[in-house]
Amino acid sequence: MTTALVTGATSGIGLGFAERLASDGYDLVLVARDPQRLELTATQLATAGVNVEVIAADLGDRERIREVEDRLRDERRPIEMLVNNAGFSANQRFIGGDVGAEQAQIDVMVSAVMRLSHAALPEMVERGRGAVVNVSSIASFLPFSTYSAAKAWVTSFSQSLATELEGTGVRALAVCPGFVRTEFHERAGIDIDRSNDTWWRDVDAVVQRAMEDLRRGRVISVEGRGYRAIAVGTHLLPRDALRRAERLRRSRIAGRRG
Ligand SMILES: NC(=O)c1ccc[n+]([C@@H]2O[C@H](COP(=O)([O-])OP(=O)(O)OC[C@H]3O[C@@H](n4cnc5c(N)ncnc54)[C@H](OP(=O)(O)O)[C@@H]3O)[C@@H](O)[C@H]2O)c1
Repeated sequence: MTTALVTGATSGIGLGFAERLASDGYDLVLVARDPQRLELTATQLATAGVNVEVIAADLGDRERIREVEDRLRDERRPIEMLVNNAGFSANQRFIGGDVGAEQAQIDVMVSAVMRLSHAALPEMVERGRGAVVNVSSIASFLPFSTYSAAKAWVTSFSQSLATELEGTGVRALAVCPGFVRTEFHERAGIDIDRSNDTWWRDVDAVVQRAMEDLRRGRVISVEGRGYRAIAVGTHLLPRDALRRAERLRRSRIAGRRG
């Protein structure tokens, strides 16, 4: 049996990956903070006939990450796929905002992704197979906030890994979703117009696209034609035009708040 470790596996995109991997026959290691929700998710996923372990850990806590790193390095129970998915948005202005919340974004979405990839990859390369899937964001292409800067790191890091991994049999993929129906926006207190369905994607579509792109050996996965156009467009537009778009976005938000 092959095993996948998924962070942030109790909700949204992480849960979608866990469900898909369980139905593909992967045993699972689930990581998130809430232990009760982890147990509940493990029980549900085990009905697919796979083995499910849980690790309750805050990935913003360096000590707790060590337990996950040790599990990834365990040669007797190899991990074939690492899905670095856990993440959140502090949804605040940087200036005058809570610096702890800014730091937590970097800890969970940058440091933890780097450390877990560093722990997992040597074994995968040694075995000549495996994959690291990093859930980034379409925001990684846009200069919006500490969140988008952290995701820019995730996308760039995944691309760099993919290059370093060439010829090893191991793959790296950055998944760059747009708006996805999960708990993300509610948790962040993001007031967002959900009425325009065109831009909202389902978790299953994002996961399906990511798994196909991984199989094809692609390095960036973007689900939805509109989002693919943004991904291409942001590479063609000058950075100044992107900053003007960000100014417009901020003034719209300010207008809505009133
Ligand atoms: N939804 C979107 O529109 C969207 C768009 C682009 C990118 N993304 C990215 O997709 C990823 C998943 O987000 P989602 O939309 O699926 O959000 P979600 O529904 O809120 O799920 C987040 C998951 O991460 C876990 N988590 C959060 N903080 C954690 C921490 N410090 N340590 C360990 N686990 C933690 C949560 O469980 P606990 O609370 O129990 O820890 C939960 O399982 C994130 O990286 C996000 O940035 C989302």
